[in-house]
Amino acid sequence: MPRNQNQILQDRIDQLLPQDRGLRILEAGCGSVSHISFGTVEHLVGIDISEKQLGRNEQLNEKILGDLQTYELGKETFDVIVSWDVLEHIEHPEKALMNFFQATRPGGLIILAAPNFWSLKGMVTWILPHRMHVWFYRYVIGDKRAGTQDFGPFKTYLKSSMWPENICKSAEGQGFSVEMFDEYEGPVPRHLRTKSKVFDLAFSLLGGVSRVLTAGKIDLNNSDYMLILKKK
Ligand SMILES: C[S@@+](CC[C@H](N)C(=O)[O-])C[C@H]1O[C@@H](n2cnc3c(N)ncnc32)[C@H](O)[C@@H]1O
Repeated sequence: MPRNQNQILQDRIDQLLPQDRGLRILEAGCGSVSHISFGTVEHLVGIDISEKQLGRNEQLNEKILGDLQTYELGKETFDVIVSWDVLEHIEHPEKALMNFFQATRPGGLIILAAPNFWSLKGMVTWILPHRMHVWFYRYVIGDKRAGTQDFGPFKTYLKSSMWPENICKSAEGQGFSVEMFDEYEGPVPRHLRTKSKVFDLAFSLLGGVSRVLTAGKIDLNNSDYMLILKKK
């Protein structure tokens, strides 16, 4: 994620969260790292379906091995729920989202980041079989661990219930407001641009053409989105 995107997100979170008390935070699909810093953390819980990923995470106060679709997170138990690059890997994201909606305290936040289906990366990922994702990460991105020991890439579904417009609709129905929505070019296309001038030129052309053809609604280079929802 470009630095300015990261900064915009962090600034918005700092504005929205109370700074005068400790927060109970859930990293949903925590994997091995966290992307956001919170000033006053009382308790940081991480849940993941992979024991290996959980084992690598050294930032958590509490670890839960569980499936976000079925694990009972409880009612109004967290001030903040962060789910970063997870919803695309879930077969029924609407179940995980409903779990998040219920587990957020009044005034609390849900912070989501995920790939955009309506982008070049989203559609290519959706079309290609999982073994091609592994190949891409291993030989194009250069991660030799890809496909082993739960280092990813993880099976990807990109179901429509995790598309941002649908999340916003269901969130509003559950008493949330949308505090921030942003789309941006994520790390994978940026990596490809830096590797080859041909990719760079092709992506720029594609972005321009998609914007013109959809009157600015879709830019196929906006591979990722981030969303902040607040419970009223
Ligand atoms: C791409 S990784 C992202 C990890 C971390 N959030 C990050 O940004 O680095 C996706 C994570 O979601 C976890 N995951 C996938 N399906 C899940 C499910 N149904 N319940 C809980 N975790 C899940 C995977 O095990 C993996 O750790």
